Amino acid sequence: MSAVEPMRVGVIGAGYVGLVTAACLAELGHDVTCIDTDAAKVARLKAGEMPIYEPGLEALVAANGARGRLRFATDIAEAAEAGIDVLFIAVGTPTDSSGGGVNLAYVHAAVEQAACALARQSGGFTVVVTKSTVPVGTSRKVAEILGRHLSHERFAVASNPEFLREGSAIADFMQPDRIVVGSQSARARAILDELYSPLVRAGRPMVVTSAVETAELVKYAANAFLATKITFINELARLCEATGADITELARGLGLDDRIGAKFLAAGPGFGGSCFPKDLLALIKTGTDYGSPVEIVETVIRANDRHKQLMVRKIRTALGGTLQNRRIGVLGLSFKAETDDMRNAPALTIVPQLIAEGADVNAYDPAASATAREHLPQLSLAASVEAAVTGADAVVILTEWSVFRSIDWRRLGPMMRRPLVIDLRNIYEPDAMVRQGMDYLPLGRQEAEPPFRAAAE
Ligand code: UDX
Repeated sequence: MSAVEPMRVGVIGAGYVGLVTAACLAELGHDVTCIDTDAAKVARLKAGEMPIYEPGLEALVAANGARGRLRFATDIAEAAEAGIDVLFIAVGTPTDSSGGGVNLAYVHAAVEQAACALARQSGGFTVVVTKSTVPVGTSRKVAEILGRHLSHERFAVASNPEFLREGSAIADFMQPDRIVVGSQSARARAILDELYSPLVRAGRPMVVTSAVETAELVKYAANAFLATKITFINELARLCEATGADITELARGLGLDDRIGAKFLAAGPGFGGSCFPKDLLALIKTGTDYGSPVEIVETVIRANDRHKQLMVRKIRTALGGTLQNRRIGVLGLSFKAETDDMRNAPALTIVPQLIAEGADVNAYDPAASATAREHLPQLSLAASVEAAVTGADAVVILTEWSVFRSIDWRRLGPMMRRPLVIDLRNIYEPDAMVRQGMDYLPLGRQEAEPPFRAAAE
């Protein structure tokens, strides 16, 4: 990365987005203080312990800490004393208890504290940037709060949404498809241009707009579009089952059209995670609030919920029309592979439903067991793949963990009461499963027929 004129950066919030942002901006050469009011978390971070699991993060924090470019603090006043050129707000924005709105209490509190700390300094100019995903209009509110404490020559507000995926957040930050910045203030736009100049020089495109609303909306639009793409392919997967087509070949035939693109066309048990469900609800709420409904997004949420129910029906049908006294081994609980995150995971809908219908469920997840204990206290957790599948009438694959791809079913199949794998992530090839002696039920693909099996054996 080419050299940069170091800026003094503050990041409020040492959660997922804040930590990744702080570590990556330090890596770009800036002088960064990451602030969190949780003293225990800050103490752990100072000792080099990460509060979340994200590949590469720990090393990046350690390296930039050692170079003196990344510090942690509990009080924004510490950073404000030295001056802050750019202050990112990266605190949590949970869904409001009432109907899809976003709870901005943490954002407002962080801005209020920042405003007070900056007001105690005699001068300086700070760009206050919302990094957390916040609804249209939030930046104006942020400006209003700042304006109560600071003169207007001392600050400007901007929106700069993150597009980080769990598991590849560092790469998503350092090699982004795009950087989006919105601010009415030309001075703020120039400062953020400079902040991200190493990425722009490396060829990354930057979309800069004076309409802060555009930047605020684009994040919601992107997530809603991706969730729509997944939901579309999931509905098509069911249609493939009904008609005799194959969803993986269909997705390939579809995705090779440049206008569509091959990514996010993997059929599964439904989308989940901390972002999609929350952001879709928030976009719907914005549509309603502004009298401009986004009906497709409303349908996507309904279709995704229904899809999860239909996955339960698929399992029930495969087990003879009832789940009463059926033993089911579930492999994978997290909302996607390589994370311990279970927020809005399809498992949270599907597993309790299986249990409610009388199934005896044993689940194994390589990382999410502790999280599962919290979310699904009624679930019996197995310590290994073997323990989950032993004695099962069926094994259901809910998450596409790479360790599941190399399971030797020839060895495990005989440990089951019936050697049936219901693969809701299509991680196996049907003929390979049949060769290993398994009954195999993929999603949106045809079940291998006994004649095929006889031929293969
Ligand atoms: C997402 C966005 O990708 C990211 O840009 C945004 O900043 C936060 O939300 P993340 O929640 O980490 O990131 O997960 P992602 O990898 O996008 O997957 C979301 C869900 O879609 C998962 O449940 C995943 O299993 C599912 N999915 C994804 C599919 O079912 N099929 C696919 O082809 C892709």
